[in-house]
Amino acid sequence: MTRPLDIVFAEADPQAFATLEGQIAVLADPEGGLDQLARRIDRLSRGAVRRATAAEGWAKLEEGQGVSLAMPHGLAAQTLFVVKLGRRRDPMTARKAGAWIARQMSKKPITLILPARPAADIAFGLALRAYAFDVYRTGNEEEEAPGAKILLTRPEEAAAAARDQAALVEGVFFTRDLVNEPANVLSTTDFAARLGAMQELGLEVEILEEEDLEKLGAHMLLAVGHGSESPSRVVVMRWQGGGDEAPLALVGKGVVFDTGGISLKPAGGMEDMTMDMAGAGVVAGVMRSLALRRAKANVVGLVGLVENMPDGRAQRPGDIVRSMKGDTVEVINTDAEGRLVLGDVLWYAQERFKPAAIVDLATLTGAMIIALGHHHAGVFSNDDAFADALLRAAEAEGEGAWRMPLGKVYDKQLKSRLADMKNVGGRSAGSITAAQFLQRFVKDGTPWAHIDIAGVAMPTEPGDFAPKGPSGWGVLTLDRLVRDRYES
Ligand code: BES
Ligand code: MN
Ligand code: ZN
Repeated sequence: MTRPLDIVFAEADPQAFATLEGQIAVLADPEGGLDQLARRIDRLSRGAVRRATAAEGWAKLEEGQGVSLAMPHGLAAQTLFVVKLGRRRDPMTARKAGAWIARQMSKKPITLILPARPAADIAFGLALRAYAFDVYRTGNEEEEAPGAKILLTRPEEAAAAARDQAALVEGVFFTRDLVNEPANVLSTTDFAARLGAMQELGLEVEILEEEDLEKLGAHMLLAVGHGSESPSRVVVMRWQGGGDEAPLALVGKGVVFDTGGISLKPAGGMEDMTMDMAGAGVVAGVMRSLALRRAKANVVGLVGLVENMPDGRAQRPGDIVRSMKGDTVEVINTDAEGRLVLGDVLWYAQERFKPAAIVDLATLTGAMIIALGHHHAGVFSNDDAFADALLRAAEAEGEGAWRMPLGKVYDKQLKSRLADMKNVGGRSAGSITAAQFLQRFVKDGTPWAHIDIAGVAMPTEPGDFAPKGPSGWGVLTLDRLVRDRYES
């Protein structure tokens, strides 16, 4: 796994500031006010910090951004960052300040000299934004991950807050790594093995093989994997940190590669379909974080791992398959495979775990990107209170989410001439009809939210807290949902 930046919190020794080497950073508030430790840096540098905050450019900076001073006089450091952040700023702006530093810094050690309050959040933003996936770049194998030292007056407090955040950073990185991995490496079996390895963290992990899935009647899921050399799998990850209450269930679409199957996708951009397992990746990342921070809640994560390939044995358009629930589905388009996988896993999750609520995550439809772009995930739900809780959690974590409608009028589009339903609903409202399909596998009375992350899982531009590539969208939101609603 990509190792997060090593962050150490230590007691500041102002006497040693002059000799600190490499990169250092301090905060200044919008009016140029400095905390005690930053004042010391200012004095040592003969007023360089105050000159920076008095300069014309300072006023134009947003909070969380800063300036970089090279070779400051009076300091051994090569670079001094002065970051604009008000004393009473919210955690999200503090995270942004950390992320700004991560963008500016070179891959060398850095020392942040900070007041206590925002230190943990700054460290969090720094760690999240400093992600880099270099496993397939040859030549820099020797390079060690740079470390960050955070110096403050009372380090214990910040270090305690940072412990849970480090668990989240690991979860997010785990998700991003999985999404980055190409499909020739991250096969269904390799994916399952990586999840199995999380038993070390105290998760119960169970891997259902094709034989098991056959017995369970998961024909809809199995049909998607028929054309692949990689066997289909369902992996169940259980975290039992609570009492005997029913768990929250998280369900993820794990299509390790989506060619479209016999309804083959065009070549242009098909390489991006290595990310079609992002839903499963997010579920895995959340489970990892929950285990690492020993969350006091019961959560079960289930992922359907398949590969959608064209082949002599692949399912055809026109095939009719029977779901685990018992309904029959006419497969009009083999590229609408995610809903086939999720339908069976959703049903299995309910039959086996009687969950208090279910959230599924999937890169389900291209139409979601047309509707909301890369900034908001689409949230579909049968329960307003549950949807609100989820949207609030996303808002608090700075992950864009937007409620989308469901309704009978859309469900009609799934009528099949031959079977109980077909797997596509025509061109209009593509994301909604996909959600309607899923809802047919959700029992009445179970609060359920489907999150279509097709746009947000791998945005085309770098984000506030991620370089270009996988965002890990959802790990923070779902962890927050668990914290707010399920943790005792
Ligand atoms: N994995 C795709 C959706 C997708 C597209 C995710 C682009 C991320 C980026 C999904 O399996 C798919 O192919 N959906 C089809 C559905 C259609 C055939 C009804 C789509 O969106 O075109
Ligand atoms: Mn598809
Ligand atoms: Zn897909």
